[in-house]
Amino acid sequence: MSTPHVLKTVRELRAAVAQAVAETGLAQPVVALVPTMGALHSGHAALLKAARTSADVLVASVFVNPLQFDDAADYQHYPRQLEQDIADLARHRVDLVFAPEIEEIYPDYPFGPLVRVSAGELGRRWEGRSRPGHFDGVATVVTKLFTIIQPPAPARFEAWFGEKDAEQLAVIRRMVADLHLPVGIRSVPVVRDENGLALSSRNLRLSAADYDAALHLSQTLFTLAARAESGQPLDVEGLRTQLEAADGVELDYLVVVDPLSLHELVPGRGALTGQGVLGASSCRGSGEAPRGMLDAVRHDAPDGLVLIAARVGPVRLIDTMDLNAAAPL
Ligand code: PAF
Repeated sequence: MSTPHVLKTVRELRAAVAQAVAETGLAQPVVALVPTMGALHSGHAALLKAARTSADVLVASVFVNPLQFDDAADYQHYPRQLEQDIADLARHRVDLVFAPEIEEIYPDYPFGPLVRVSAGELGRRWEGRSRPGHFDGVATVVTKLFTIIQPPAPARFEAWFGEKDAEQLAVIRRMVADLHLPVGIRSVPVVRDENGLALSSRNLRLSAADYDAALHLSQTLFTLAARAESGQPLDVEGLRTQLEAADGVELDYLVVVDPLSLHELVPGRGALTGQGVLGASSCRGSGEAPRGMLDAVRHDAPDGLVLIAARVGPVRLIDTMDLNAAAPL
């Protein structure tokens, strides 16, 4: 196991990427980026493993981005363990680690950056509505990472993201398309622990009681997946009510959305015939659908994405389930 090169500045990183690309000796090497905020867990391991299979040069970034935290305490308490992360990245045969200080990425922070990337309307839906500015912060730092790491042509560039952060993935895909960024976006499915809880760096802050409460989130998703699979009514409203009554869970939202637009899906004509029940054509504005509308019909072929967010103990947790690809535990 060789230790990856750890680079702290943009200048060093660009030089290291150019050198690593040249050293491959390949006509068109693939440079892959796995952006992280550190505190690596098995979810990151899945990303790194997948990225390693296609990458000739694998770069990981470790940077806790203040712009995407709407809550100062969350930013302050976000776990930081760079030495351990570097050891993990070495195990995953990462070639280069970019671990800049805050001043390197935002020289005039906290006053700047003045110019930021906006996630637009897509950044103001579910998670974005509860955490104003969050997706603008993500879009800004990810654009910076892309432009910093972008390898010289004819190398190809790809970046890997977890599907657990489904809204983030939708924002990034759209941003890349809208801004013509020359990077391929790849993703890996949600990674869960043995009880079904989606892995997250924030799980480190859950007490034993919080952990038990947190399992309500994934159990709700598995219930929806099982109902979708067997063609039963989803009864999202009933599940919301149960979650609201669950000890230790402060539900923010539980919705079924279109995976690209993130609009809440409401029954269209297909719902009544059992065809294309949750098709994108039946979209309405986010959060406008009266609660319970989804529950009134059968969902024989749902193609929506379930998004859930709740505060559990000291942390906010999110999780997701693609009803198309649902494979309940
Ligand atoms: O998903 C994350 O860990 C972060 O949002 C990211 C993509 C590294 C940007 O800070």
